[in-house]
Amino acid sequence: MLLCAHEFAAVAERVQQAPRLLVLTGAGMSAESGVPTFREAQTGLWARFSPEDLATPQAFAATPERVLDWYRWRRDLVAKAAPNAGHRALAQWQRGHPGMDLVTQNVDGLHQRAGSTGVVELHGRLSHLRCEQCAQSLPWPDDDPGGVLWHQCGSGSVGGSRKSIAALAAPAGRLRPDIVWFGEALPAAAWEHAERRAREADVVLVVGTSGLVHPAAALPSIAQRAGAYVVEVNPQPTALSPEVDACVSGTAAEVLPQLLAMPPA
Ligand code: APR
Repeated sequence: MLLCAHEFAAVAERVQQAPRLLVLTGAGMSAESGVPTFREAQTGLWARFSPEDLATPQAFAATPERVLDWYRWRRDLVAKAAPNAGHRALAQWQRGHPGMDLVTQNVDGLHQRAGSTGVVELHGRLSHLRCEQCAQSLPWPDDDPGGVLWHQCGSGSVGGSRKSIAALAAPAGRLRPDIVWFGEALPAAAWEHAERRAREADVVLVVGTSGLVHPAAALPSIAQRAGAYVVEVNPQPTALSPEVDACVSGTAAEVLPQLLAMPPA
């Protein structure tokens, strides 16, 4: 459904007047920041791989260096990117409306860089590594030595190569990106929080997600069954479109500033 101006104004009013607004974002949220979405073809060095072939525990077990290098490439992309007008609109709205919750499938940290707080990251974060041995999450160091990285358990920092860690003769673990891969469970606390907020929400705004990856894709229907009004913002119809209450056809950076009654950036 493409909304006319009158319908758009009615949807905007519902969104703006919701005491409890839950915003669920996906990769399309960051597309206008220059971060490619998951289901569009990759370019350059990584064109012959699909994310589904790289973002799995099996891929990391078989070719850890390749998987880490893909995440290094994505970290570089994100470091060069900036939050767009959509990220900024959400952050500004949240400052004036503490009843808003933001749940994202994105791992790029752009919501936080725009100023959003309390962001629930369902699929992890590119900014961190996690120890396979002790599960500790550590900031991915700026002086990344490359290759497969290890950590001395309990040390609180990335140690470097296997060899440098072995020399310490202490329990050590290999480090992986702090990301939820295909086939893995979501962090329990993040999911419980998101699900609770979905049940409590008056309005849910679903932005830039194909709605193909569960359980995140179930949040709009969980909210709707509990009585919420669900609005989708996406330039394309998605798997969720037939179920939502209103579809706003457009991009995150175009639509969100208007929907939240902000002057364009
Ligand atoms: N504004 C809003 N939406 C957009 C924009 C834009 N500028 N550009 C593209 N989109 C939409 C696309 O139409 C598509 O529906 O964003 C969606 C992106 O879909 P996916 O690439 O499937 O991303 P997402 O839904 O976030 O994927 C979910 O899958 O690979 C895993 O863990 C990964 O978090 C990811 C999850």
